[in-house]
Amino acid sequence: MAGKYEKLQQQFLCCYPVNKMAWSSVKLPLNWAEQQELIAATCGHPLNKSHPVRRSYLEAFLKQLMHLLKDQDELHDDLYGNLCGRMAESPSSGTAYAYKHYLIQPGAQITLRESNSFVSEGTTGLCTWEAALALADYILQHKDVVKGKNVVELGAGAGLVGILLKLPALELHTGQVLLTDGSEPCVQLMRENIALNFDTKDEAGEVPQAETLRWDAVAKFPWEKYAKTDLLLAADVIYDDSQFDALLGALDYLFIQRSNQLEMLLASTVRNVDTLHKFMTELSAHGYKVTPCANVSACASHFCRDHTAAVQIISIRR
Ligand SMILES: C[S@@+](CC[C@H](N)C(=O)[O-])C[C@H]1O[C@@H](n2cnc3c(N)ncnc32)[C@H](O)[C@@H]1O
Repeated sequence: MAGKYEKLQQQFLCCYPVNKMAWSSVKLPLNWAEQQELIAATCGHPLNKSHPVRRSYLEAFLKQLMHLLKDQDELHDDLYGNLCGRMAESPSSGTAYAYKHYLIQPGAQITLRESNSFVSEGTTGLCTWEAALALADYILQHKDVVKGKNVVELGAGAGLVGILLKLPALELHTGQVLLTDGSEPCVQLMRENIALNFDTKDEAGEVPQAETLRWDAVAKFPWEKYAKTDLLLAADVIYDDSQFDALLGALDYLFIQRSNQLEMLLASTVRNVDTLHKFMTELSAHGYKVTPCANVSACASHFCRDHTAAVQIISIRR
């Protein structure tokens, strides 16, 4: 961690919006050594060196920093070096993918390759959404909900939540973790991201698995290869009401398979109240009982989150 620039470091590595960063932690003027320290904590961080963040993000960050230091006589060479060096070496402003690093706590971090666009290759799942961060926070603040449980995530996208469940440093003691998504590019990306974060091959259920699962084909999935599911997770899957029947059909199938001995945690960004309400009504019509989960404390968040978008987390049982 980076001492006085710890927050900026965490924000930089996960590409938190430049205009919302903790710039107030930078006490001006910065002498030569302080400038060097700040650059080393962010652009020069070993994670960014090995798996770089989006170049357009790096440029925006450095431009903002230069603006902050505009009244200073001298700007450190490393500042120009990072800007020019990266520009020269990387003709990749149009590159579709880059890395984000989520520093959760000392010794626990997740590196994900993610799409630079919210929608690409016909899916919204190639980048991490706010609801996934909120669900991850909820789990970290209520570790008992996953302890000893075999978990299946639906619509897992780039894989953040499932990868977090198996990070040894977090000591969540989760059982088998199966990440699923209906989009093939998401499943490929999840597998890549799992390999980025775990050294070992899965021998004793220590590494999450990733498989293709479309909600309307849930009955065709080879469930017999996996442990009995105790907990379903899903983040940001309630935005398209044309998918509600398929999702409810998948829930019905999985709950019946487990004689209703199953819980689902569903995290949804509140974008359109009517869409969420419609899904809640349909859940109730299918015999599910919905309990709102305790709010995730914003100040105790393990992630850099943009709290302007409310995220609702509910527990679903039958
Ligand atoms: C907005 S993304 C959320 C990704 C991830 N959970 C997150 O919060 O970062 C929605 C995900 O649901 C998946 N999805 C949408 N409809 C689906 C369906 N019918 N079957 C399976 N997955 C689906 C998409 O492929 C996408 O990965």
